[in-house]
Amino acid sequence: MSAIRLDGIAIGQQIRAGLRAPVAEFTRQAGRAPGLSLVLVGDDPGSHLYVSSKLRSAGDSGLDAEIHRLPGDTPIDELLRLVDRLNRDERCDGILVQSPLPTQMGADAERRVFDAIDPAKDVDGFHPTNVGKLVQGRADLVACTPSGVIEILERSGIRIAGASAVVIGRSDIVGKPMALLLLHRHATVTICHSRTRDLASVAREADILVAALGRPAFVTTDFVKPGATVIDVGTTPVSDAELVAGWFEPGHKRRDAFERRGSLVMGDVHPGVEAVAGALTPVPGGVGPLTIAMLLKNTVTAAMNRLNGIGL
Ligand code: GUN
Repeated sequence: MSAIRLDGIAIGQQIRAGLRAPVAEFTRQAGRAPGLSLVLVGDDPGSHLYVSSKLRSAGDSGLDAEIHRLPGDTPIDELLRLVDRLNRDERCDGILVQSPLPTQMGADAERRVFDAIDPAKDVDGFHPTNVGKLVQGRADLVACTPSGVIEILERSGIRIAGASAVVIGRSDIVGKPMALLLLHRHATVTICHSRTRDLASVAREADILVAALGRPAFVTTDFVKPGATVIDVGTTPVSDAELVAGWFEPGHKRRDAFERRGSLVMGDVHPGVEAVAGALTPVPGGVGPLTIAMLLKNTVTAAMNRLNGIGL
């Protein structure tokens, strides 16, 4: 058996196509396009790639997107001043500060910055007001990656209600909101993490298994119940040829790509899982495109809410 591959590129395109009419309607009513401000601090190559791709997709969808690039040694107070300026900018509907922030900004920098963003413009859904609303099942702006996973499941006809769902990873960005979204759709949810005992046997109970721990190829076949749906949220850059040779046979297209480029982006799920799972999101081309589509959707929601005077 080989798992059905859940095509995040196609689903992301469907969502973006669905935004055309609301973007046009907002633009007609407001006399301007929905505005998205992206903030990138430092020179992490992965973050550069993600933010450029968010900027391009936003432009393609008719949004007015801008990027603020700040050097890695920017003091946190300067970043907070920029956030404050964007909060007060009438043309800015959505603010995204790319995580991770440079370590020199301090251990609590991300929390301080996310707390400072106007909840009505918090297109990441990271502000405590939006997280609190998510807990209560009434959030407009929800973290993009987990809400993208829900779109993949629902648009692929995978039943969530009554399913046993296991989320590996308990981050604020993915694991926790993921578990809440599944719970609100009536799954029986278990969250696993680094201290979970016998992780593989807990994961093996799952009808829906979400791997969001950031450890390449960690989820092997013994974690997966035959026929389960496996969602791979991992995107770790790997440049170790020995690791890659252990995962992909010679001639495999991902191994060929690695040999050409010297690196690849690896998910948390081992390639062998494809033979056991019923359905699987590939990396790349699975969850990643949904994260961007949901960011655009959140920006349009935030813009419409602001236009209609709906405060958060
Ligand atoms: N870094 C990785 N994923 C995300 C995300 O969804 N939002 C932000 N702001 N940073 C990220």
